[in-house]
Amino acid sequence: MGPGGSHGWPAPSPRAWPSTAAVVPETLCVLASKQCVRLAFCFDCSNARCRPSSSLVAKPTVQGGDSMLKEEVRKHWEKETCGTRYGSAENRRVYFDELSAARYTLEPHIQTFADFPASKGKSVLEIGVGAGADFLNWCVHAGHATGLDLTQSAVDLTRERLILNSVPTSRYALFAADAEDLPFDNGVFDLVYSWGTLHHTPDTERSLAEAFRVLKPGGTIKLMVYHAQSWTGLYLYLRFGVARGRLRASTRELIGQHLESPGTKAYLPQEIEALLRLVGFSDISAYTQLGPSDLLRVARSEKYESALYRFIWGVYPRWLVRLAGHRYGLYLLVRAGKGAGRPARDQGDDALTPTSEEWA
Ligand SMILES: C[S@@+](CC[C@H](N)C(=O)[O-])C[C@H]1O[C@@H](n2cnc3c(N)ncnc32)[C@H](O)[C@@H]1O
Repeated sequence: MGPGGSHGWPAPSPRAWPSTAAVVPETLCVLASKQCVRLAFCFDCSNARCRPSSSLVAKPTVQGGDSMLKEEVRKHWEKETCGTRYGSAENRRVYFDELSAARYTLEPHIQTFADFPASKGKSVLEIGVGAGADFLNWCVHAGHATGLDLTQSAVDLTRERLILNSVPTSRYALFAADAEDLPFDNGVFDLVYSWGTLHHTPDTERSLAEAFRVLKPGGTIKLMVYHAQSWTGLYLYLRFGVARGRLRASTRELIGQHLESPGTKAYLPQEIEALLRLVGFSDISAYTQLGPSDLLRVARSEKYESALYRFIWGVYPRWLVRLAGHRYGLYLLVRAGKGAGRPARDQGDDALTPTSEEWA
C-alpha cells in the first residue's frame, strides 16, 4: 500500500506510513522469539511471533454475540451523540454552528480528506452521520446525499441541523440503519464516506463488504478507522493497564474496553488494507493522522473532571507529540476504489486472505 494513486488523493507523503518493520524493529521486541511481554513501547506491534493470538480483534466487554454487542454500541451512542459536547448556545442554529466550528478547528484534516467540493454531481452515502456536521457539507456539495446512523438520536439531530440550514429535502435522504445491512440496491453510490464509525460496529468486514456492494463500479470509499499504534493507545495503556496493574493488557484490548463504545477496534494500515482487499477493493492508500485525543484536546467528560485530570491536561507535552509527527496518530485515513472486476472472494484469490497466523 502506498499513498498517492489515481484518485487525486491529497498528497500525504510527509506522513506516509513506513513499513511496520521500520516502526518497531524486531530488535526492540523483548523476547520476540518466545512470548513477548508487550511493554507499552511495543504499541501492539505486528510481529506475528510476539503478537498474542487474540490481539487483532478487541475483546468486547459484552458476551453473547454480535447482536448483543451492537445493541450495547447503539445504547452508548444514543446516550450522547458524538461531538455534541462542543456547543453550549441555547439557540439551536448557533449551537450546531458551534459544533461544526469546534470540529473543523480541532480536526481540520477532515475537510482535506473528505474534499466535499469534489463531490459535485455525485451520489454520496455517509455511514454514521453523528451530529451531522459532515453530512451538511455533503448535502451542500454533492449531487445527492444519503446519510444513516445506527441511532435515532443522531438521525434526529442531523435532520434538525439540515432543517435549520434550510437544506431542501430533495437533496438528501436520512434514516436510521445498520452499516452491516445497508438498505440499498447494488451499485448506487459514487462515494461512500464514513468517519470514525466502522471500527465500532461488531462485524467491520461485513460493513466494508456492504459498502463495496452499494458502490458503483469505479466508485470510491473514504473512511477513518482507529490506528492500533497511537498516543491515545499509549495513554489508555498507562491509565487502564499500568495504573491498574494490568501490564500485559494490550492496547487493542484497552481500546475495546475504554475507547468510546464497547468493542471498538483498531487497525494497522496493512490490516485494514487486507480487509478491504478481501471484500474486493483495490487502489488502496492510507495514512495516519494525529487526532484531538492524541493531543489531549478533547472536551473532558464527567469522569475526567477531577483535579488530577485537569493537571494532566495542563502539563501534557503537546509540543512533543506534535514534534514526533503523525506516525502515531489515532486516525487511520483510508481510501480505496471499486474496480470493474469481481470481488477477490468470488475470484477465489486466497493470496489476499490473511493467514490464520496473521488474523488469529
Ligand atoms: C464516533 S461517532 C462518529 C460520528 C460522526 N461520523 C462524527 O465523526 O462525528 C460513531 C457513530 O457511528 C454510529 N454507528 C456505530 N455502529 C454503527 C452501525 N453498525 N451502523 C451505522 N452507524 C453506526 C454511532 O451511532 C455513532 O453515531
